Amino acid sequence: MEITITSNYEEMSKVSAQIIAEEIQRKHDLVLGLATGDTPIGTYQELVKIHKEEGLDFSKVKSFNLDEYLGLAPLHKNSYNYFMWENLFKHININPENVYIPQGNIKDPEQFCAWYEAQIKEAGGIDLQVLGIGRDGHIAFNEPGSSFASRTRIKALYKQTIEDNARFFDKMEDVPRFAITIGIGTIMEAKKILLIANGKNKAAVCAQFIEGPVTSQITATALQLHSYVNIVLDKDAASKLERTEYYDWVRDNKHSVQKEIGR
Ligand code: PGA
Repeated sequence: MEITITSNYEEMSKVSAQIIAEEIQRKHDLVLGLATGDTPIGTYQELVKIHKEEGLDFSKVKSFNLDEYLGLAPLHKNSYNYFMWENLFKHININPENVYIPQGNIKDPEQFCAWYEAQIKEAGGIDLQVLGIGRDGHIAFNEPGSSFASRTRIKALYKQTIEDNARFFDKMEDVPRFAITIGIGTIMEAKKILLIANGKNKAAVCAQFIEGPVTSQITATALQLHSYVNIVLDKDAASKLERTEYYDWVRDNKHSVQKEIGR
């Protein structure tokens, strides 16, 4: 896992947007896994900026979102579908036919989950998966105890997640209790992973998932078993890590390996 500690949210957003932009420039028909939440908003704003100012082309990109609240219609203002169009899609030249987001109000969610998995497979798998992290260690809505082999399915949300999500809803009773989410098994099949996190309230969970033991109780720890993970944190989210000096040194000196080999 490569860990980049940035000085603030703005820098975290710029660094992560740059990583995504480079992947799109390398492969124009990139299959991009996307996340919602407060964390990636700045990253999406940066991507919009790169699109507008440097012509980053999304016309062939295919996107798959991680999750959606069960029961919310796509146009509901708290749906992740609404979030994605407001914060990213309507500002770039992505083809709406290439956008995949779980549909919260689908009649047969189980059949839908199987279909969603099949669409990811048909697209050739996810090239780059963008992730945030919940305070309980979830990636997508894979709450504590989710199997590392799990696929797209319906998941009951954990108490802490429901409390965290409540800020977007008028009443506690309106906060959804269930979501459609891709699984840890699905995420682990992505070729590359980019996880971003910011803020002091993520410091404990970042220390646990980066430096703690692998456990399904903190599902982000599964990423320790993935071969290509970029983690971009702001300094608050990184504040409880123990080996920050080492991570910084590795990043600053990664080119010196080439020099050593060439010597
Ligand atoms: P946040 O959510 O970006 O709003 O903190 C992250 C998550 O729950 O995955």
